[in-house]
Order: sequence, then C-alpha cells, then structure tokens
Amino acid sequence: MQTATTAPAGVAEGARIRTRITERFGASTPILNAGMVLIAGPELAAAVSNAGGIGTIGATMVPPEGLRGMIRATRALTPRPFGVDLIGQFVEPAHVDVLLEERPALVIFFWSAPPASTIERLKAAGVCVWMQVGTVAEARDAVALGVEALVLQGSEAGGHNRAEMTLATLLPAIRQACSTLPLVAAGGIVDGCTMAAALVAGAEAVWCGTRFLATHEANAAEGFKSRVVESGPGDTEISTVFGPEWPGEPVRALANAAVRAARGRAAEALEEAQGEVIGTVVLGGERLPVPRYSAILPIRDMEADLDWACLTVGEASAVIETIEPAAALVARMTRDALALLPASSHSATSRAA
Ligand SMILES: Cc1cc2nc3c(=O)[nH]c(=O)nc-3n(C[C@H](O)[C@H](O)[C@H](O)COP(=O)(O)O)c2cc1C
Repeated sequence: MQTATTAPAGVAEGARIRTRITERFGASTPILNAGMVLIAGPELAAAVSNAGGIGTIGATMVPPEGLRGMIRATRALTPRPFGVDLIGQFVEPAHVDVLLEERPALVIFFWSAPPASTIERLKAAGVCVWMQVGTVAEARDAVALGVEALVLQGSEAGGHNRAEMTLATLLPAIRQACSTLPLVAAGGIVDGCTMAAALVAGAEAVWCGTRFLATHEANAAEGFKSRVVESGPGDTEISTVFGPEWPGEPVRALANAAVRAARGRAAEALEEAQGEVIGTVVLGGERLPVPRYSAILPIRDMEADLDWACLTVGEASAVIETIEPAAALVARMTRDALALLPASSHSATSRAA
C-alpha cells in the first residue's frame, strides 16, 4: 500500500521521510506500533507493515510454539518486515530457537535484556535487535550488549514504565550518551505533530502504544478502547499494584477504581484482593478466571469489570478521540509530519550517520 506516501500540500510528490530505520526495513514511513502484549497481535502488526510502517507483535509470556504461531500468522497477512517484542527475563532457550528458525526482521527487548550471546546469535541470523530503555544507564548497558537501536520510553508512556524523565528530556540525554545508534521515540506520540517533533529532536522512528490501542485491529476489548477515547488530562498514574503474575513493577494505567483503591497501599490492596475474581478471559483456548489486580490486559476475549482491570495507557490517552483503522492512522500521521518537517529530512537517506 502506498497511502503513507501521499504528498500533502507544499510537499513534493513522492516525498518520504527517510531515516536509517526506514532504509533498513524498506519502510515508507518511520512509524512502529509498540509491541503491546496481548493487544498488538498479527492483525495490528500486519496492518501497520502493510501501511508502510513497521508492525510489531507483543509476545511476552507467550509459549515458544505460540510465538511461532504468531510470527507465521503475521507472515500470512503481510509480505513486509515486522518485529517481535519480548521482555528479556521471560525469554527461554526455546523462544530463541523459534526466533532463529523463523527469523522475524526485528526483535525488541524491554525491561530486562537477554544475555549478550542471545543478541549475538540473533544478529548473526540476520535479525535486527533493539532494546527499549527508560534511563541513560539502561541505554549504556544496552549499547554495551550490542543492540542496533534504542527505543526511548519517556515517563509519560503507557505500560510498564520506570523512565527517569519525559521523552523530551530523555531523547537529548541519551543522544548525548549514545549518539551513534538510531533512536526511536516512545511516549505521547499520537499524531503528525508529535511525530515530527520527535524526529526533529533526533529520533529516526516513532514507537506508539496508546494511539494504536485505539485502532480497529488492536486486540483490546471495545470497552478498553472506549475508555481511551473518553479519558482526559491527568487520568493516568503509575501504580505497582498490578500483576501477581509479575509483581511490584511500576505500570502507567488509567486511574480506575483498582488503581485508586491501591494508592500508597499496594501490598495491603493485594492482600485484601486474595481470592477475588473480576471476570474471565480466554487464553490459549481456555477460559480462565481473572484475579483482581491481574496484569492481564482487557482483550476481546475478556469479560471483566473494567473498573477493576489493568487499563495500561499513556498520558496521551487524554488527546485520543477516535478509534480508527491502523492504515488510516499511519497515513495521516505521515502526511501531517511530512508537512511539518524540513524538506531536507524528506530526501536524506540518513540523518545521523
Ligand atoms: C496497553 C499497553 C501494553 C504495553 N505492553 C508492552 C509490552 O508488552 N512490551 C513492551 O515492550 N512495551 C509495552 N508497552 C509500552 C510500549 O512499548 C511503549 O513504551 C508505550 O506504549 C509508549 O507510550 P505511548 O503509550 O504514549 O505511545 C505497552 C503499552 C501499552 C499502552
């Protein structure tokens, strides 16, 4: 599809935003959807890749054969490159075997890195390896491990988040510390203006979670998508209450009844919730109970009380007003960013090399 390349008024026909990342993956626009676990599946990843961006699937905690199935399902929907997102500490040798056999174009690690040997083996197999980081120290460690680009998660971002500052400050801080790697901006990017701002600041692609959650192809429950559209300024906060599956980690989420009840007392709230169930979810073909404070996100196959569910979104949910097809979103963001960016960034094959 070429929708992402349509030139807006004042932009030369055929103009494209080229960066080292678009060139590496043959993408026509430097937009990635974040690899949101359970939410970014083959349908969303393929839609983004088919629209000229780089789609990613969120595969954390998916068993190895499930990972293979997701990669193959995405391949069946798009001939274009896409990525796989994983939390390092949940990656077992069998996952690595699947990645080496299936060879997605890109693997992005978050929160914890795999051993350097895993990164080396993936790179040797032709798989590009990135790491998402939220601090300068994490960025330095990731560079030392040999990753090929850094996704920079600002503190405004949705999902697990321990960033030390907002994207606007993190980007220049990490650019100074690790200036040679391509940087990908994450946190609060929802439209052409926020995308252009990140690219002007030195990013070579944008990685958007909350904005893609509110698309038709995202595997989120309709009620979850609606809450993104309905939310306003200040409606998110960082909480450590979610996830008996993965306890005590900071997550940015909508401040629903669950988050409010646990403010300043996460341990006690978890204790009180013992044995409580908020609904059911189908995972791996099985309908399972969802415990109160589970980190399992509301997906299409969940029936649960959303006031007590984990509604991870970023601060930018306050400005998202539509649920739309991913391709339309990619096209609009690209067109609007092109109109704002200096012409030099349309044609340069590499901005920072
Ligand atoms: C619903 C949701 C789920 C997420 N799950 C993951 C995940 O599984 N792996 C990951 O690397 N990041 C995950 N994130 C964080 C994103 O990678 C990214 O940092 C964030 O979405 C960027 O900020 P934004 O939401 O303002 O676009 C998630 C974010 C959201 C909103």
